[in-house]
Amino acid sequence: MKNILFIGGSYGIGLEVAKLLAKDTNLIIASRTSEELENLDVKHIAFDALKGDITQLDLPDTLDGLVYFPGSINLKPFKILSIESFEDEMNLNFFSLVKVVQGLLPKLKNSDQASLVFFSTVAAKVGMPFHTSISAAKGAIEGFAKSLAAEYAPSLRVNVIAPSLTDTQLSKKIAV
Ligand SMILES: NC(=O)c1ccc[n+]([C@@H]2O[C@H](COP(=O)([O-])OP(=O)(O)OC[C@H]3O[C@@H](n4cnc5c(N)ncnc54)[C@H](OP(=O)(O)O)[C@@H]3O)[C@@H](O)[C@H]2O)c1
Repeated sequence: MKNILFIGGSYGIGLEVAKLLAKDTNLIIASRTSEELENLDVKHIAFDALKGDITQLDLPDTLDGLVYFPGSINLKPFKILSIESFEDEMNLNFFSLVKVVQGLLPKLKNSDQASLVFFSTVAAKVGMPFHTSISAAKGAIEGFAKSLAAEYAPSLRVNVIAPSLTDTQLSKKIAV
C-alpha cells in the first residue's frame, strides 16, 4: 500500500479526502486536532505546521503522496491590511508548506514517483476584491509548485487545486 501523508485533514476538505483514501492507502494525518478521525483507519500525528519540525515526526522512509491542507481566508480591504496580516497568510499557506516539502524531500524521492498536492484559491487567478493577502500567499504556492515540478520531474509530480467557496469550518467565517 502507498504511504500518503496529509498535513491537515482532521476536518474540512482534507477529512472528506481522507475518508476516500483511508481503506486503500497507509494514510497518516499530521494536524493539531484529531476528534473527527476516531472512526477512520488512519494514523494521526500531532503536528502544528507553524511551529513543528516535520523531520522529527515518526514517518515511513518512503512517502508516495503528500497533501498540504492548512490555509486561511482573511478577507479585508487592502487599505486596512497590515504587513503582519500578509506575513500571517504567508507563514501558514506558504512558508510552512515550503519547510514541510524541503524536510520531506528524501522520503518523497524514495518513492517511484511521489505526488504532491497543494491548495490555492480561485481568487489567485480570477482577481477578487478584498483577497489581496490570501491571493498573494496562494499565488506564491502556484509559482512554487510549477518550478518544483520542473526541477524534480519526472521523479515528483506536483499539482495545485484552487477551490471556489467550499462549505467547511474555514468558509463559515465568510458565509452569507
Ligand atoms: N473552504 C473554502 O471555501 C476554500 C476556498 C478556497 C481555497 N481553500 C483552501 O483549501 C484548503 C483546505 O480548506 P478547508 O476549507 O478544508 O480548511 P479547514 O476546514 O480550515 O481545514 C484545514 C485543515 O488544516 C489543518 N490545519 C490548519 N492549520 C494547521 C496547522 N497550523 N498545522 C497543522 N494543520 C493545520 C486543520 O487541522 P487542525 O486544526 O486539527 O490542525 C484542518 O484539518 C486550504 O488551503 C484553503 O485555503 C478553501
